[in-house]
Amino acid sequence: MLSQVLLVSAPGKVILHGEHAVVHGKVALAVALNLRTFLRLQPHSNGKVGLNLPNVGVKRAWDVARLEQLDTSFLEQEDIAAPTPETLEKLKEVADFPADCTSHERPAVLAFLFLYLSICRKQRWTAEDLELINKWAFQGEKVIHGNPSGVDNAVSTWGGALRYQQGEISSLKRPPALKILLTNTKVPRSTKALVLSVKNRLLKFPEIVGPLLTSIDAISLECERVLGEMAAAAPAPEHYLVLEELIDMNQHHLNALGAGHSSLDQLCQVTMAHGLHSKLTGAGGGGCGITLLRPDLEKPEVEATKQALIGCGFDCWETSIGAPGISIHSAASLDTTVQRGLDGL
Ligand code: MEV
Repeated sequence: MLSQVLLVSAPGKVILHGEHAVVHGKVALAVALNLRTFLRLQPHSNGKVGLNLPNVGVKRAWDVARLEQLDTSFLEQEDIAAPTPETLEKLKEVADFPADCTSHERPAVLAFLFLYLSICRKQRWTAEDLELINKWAFQGEKVIHGNPSGVDNAVSTWGGALRYQQGEISSLKRPPALKILLTNTKVPRSTKALVLSVKNRLLKFPEIVGPLLTSIDAISLECERVLGEMAAAAPAPEHYLVLEELIDMNQHHLNALGAGHSSLDQLCQVTMAHGLHSKLTGAGGGGCGITLLRPDLEKPEVEATKQALIGCGFDCWETSIGAPGISIHSAASLDTTVQRGLDGL
């Protein structure tokens, strides 16, 4: 039972290399960003549990008494388990969606209800237990996009920079403090649909798509090697040149897999006009891209690139990689922008 306000944050993350390939057993490199999502858990005396996700446009509340009376025997008791299609159908009844509820609100609400009801049922919530958090986050991912590799929840939980392959996770030792632009094209896409379409392309053209995935694997390994070299000695301009080449090659491969989008092409062209190299990150088909910022870049050059991207209608943030994973905060330690954002909810 929550007796006080709990402030939790999780890092934003990007996949440096290996998206899609990781679903097929290849290596991915993922890093946590110094852009965080804050969550305020707050006790209410109105007998309701509320979910407020302003960015997704979700604001819902359910009577705790009603939820407590539900027969939740359809939820797995013994272990952390993925929701079955029957479970999802039952959760839809609990959610009681209004007719105008959009298709991106629905999975967010279902993921919340699934995790909330499962965790209450088990009564074994321990905030410190990162393993447990990671496992639950993975199940939440399954509600949202079906067949996740596990890389996204792992990097959000542990932070830093991770090498991920088939559930095997290792942290990159002292990754260099790379600066990047994270750009949101604002083009909506479904990770589930994109992962499925890459799989279908692999099944249709195994001799063509298989080598592409092997090549992406090699790009991730080469990137890991270069980041290791940069950590061992002072990063040199040549390191950044290699990182830029890897970004370009991977972006072309991802296009060949069918994960591209004209908005991402535009993002790459705009940054290339400023001498910077970009690739999509995550599922593609819209969504976000990353642009590597070399340390020699002057502030006005970075600013001009950001303005050019914003001019395309994109959102753009300058940030750095390797942030801490999920964290608990005291209210006093939050900076005023975050405080104000949470107070405005
Ligand atoms: C999505 O952020 C990354 C993908 O590789 C899917 C996954 O790993 O679950 C496209």
